[in-house]
Amino acid sequence: MALKELLMFVTLLFLLLRAATANHRHENVIDRCWRGQPNWATDRQRLAMCSVGFVGKMRQNRGHGVTAYTVTDPSDDPVRPRPGTLRYGATVLPGKVWITFRPGSMHIRLAQPLFVKSFTAIDGRGADVHVAGGAGIVLYEVSNVVIHGLHVHGIRAQPPGRVVRPGGAVQNMDVGDGDAIRLLSSSKVWIDHNTLSRCEDGLLDVTLGSTDVTVSNNWFHDHDKVMLLGHDDQHVADRRMRVTVAFNRFGPNVNQRMPRIRHGYAHVVNNFYDGWREYAIGGSMGPTVKSQGNLFIASTAESANVTRRMPVGHAAGKDWHWHSSGDSFENGAVFKQTGSKVRPNYNKHQAFPAVSASEVRSLTKDAGALRCSARAAC
Ligand SMILES: *[C@@H]1O[C@H](CO)[C@@H](O)[C@H](O)[C@H]1NC(C)=O
Repeated sequence: MALKELLMFVTLLFLLLRAATANHRHENVIDRCWRGQPNWATDRQRLAMCSVGFVGKMRQNRGHGVTAYTVTDPSDDPVRPRPGTLRYGATVLPGKVWITFRPGSMHIRLAQPLFVKSFTAIDGRGADVHVAGGAGIVLYEVSNVVIHGLHVHGIRAQPPGRVVRPGGAVQNMDVGDGDAIRLLSSSKVWIDHNTLSRCEDGLLDVTLGSTDVTVSNNWFHDHDKVMLLGHDDQHVADRRMRVTVAFNRFGPNVNQRMPRIRHGYAHVVNNFYDGWREYAIGGSMGPTVKSQGNLFIASTAESANVTRRMPVGHAAGKDWHWHSSGDSFENGAVFKQTGSKVRPNYNKHQAFPAVSASEVRSLTKDAGALRCSARAAC
């Protein structure tokens, strides 16, 4: 009897110790909210309450009214998508939808851009999903969208063609532009844990009055123009654009726009910049940038400037508010500050603690699409 109790005690001690060390994994505030849960695969909507930054929480994407939909068919018909395909779930299926993928790997080549509806979560956890070699993902005049856990690469401009839009109308498309993910006039969008690389145009564009966006935990690599916030200098509606860029990994082999911002406000926090050629953070038209707790590692002395104000010139942007606080600079990286510090003024659903730049390497080591098994914590 005593031996049995001793055994139970030892087992209990072991379990407690294991739980304690699991909690000490270096995780950021978003990941800590769900990755340790052994039942993440049966409680996927928990993720919706883990977002932070300007997107706030994704309350509208969860609850009883949400249809669970599984992608089982990698094919793509841009006009009459078959049930089982990604396009059927993301564009055609009515109501709120939470999309997952059958386990294993899946390669989806989109024949035309995929127009994602409002109130849609695309959740690649538990599968190895590649949207690659074809057209990209477009969010046009929508809100309450989550894109999580996809690999998007090799996106190319497609020849003109027809494509179904949310609501069922079929539209003629001109030649596309080769962006991986593009937001136009959309709000409340969360882009988390995706791996984006090697596309013809940008990896992520937030344009035409889009706002309340959080871009977190993504891995952007091997690409020229990474992230554009605000499409053109004339589009003054982008003054209200507010974007949080947090816990991402940029590089290796990236060139510029991490992000490039026009007009609006970007809170760029706790990202890992693993080298760049032209610049890391750039902008025009008086945008406001709060750079906080990032790790900037310059590739070479010739490309040591983190910041670039456009047009480039002696007095360019000298009164814009670009502020760096708690950033860490290696290999000669230089952030040129101007103006003063402007707070993001987050509400309680948006606010989150920034950590020290010295922790950024470990907090971003799992940036990009994760490999999760349904049988364990992710
Ligand atoms: C870096 O920025 C400074 C101004 O802040 C500028 O004089 C210099 O030419 C820039 N260097 C490069 C390589 O662009």
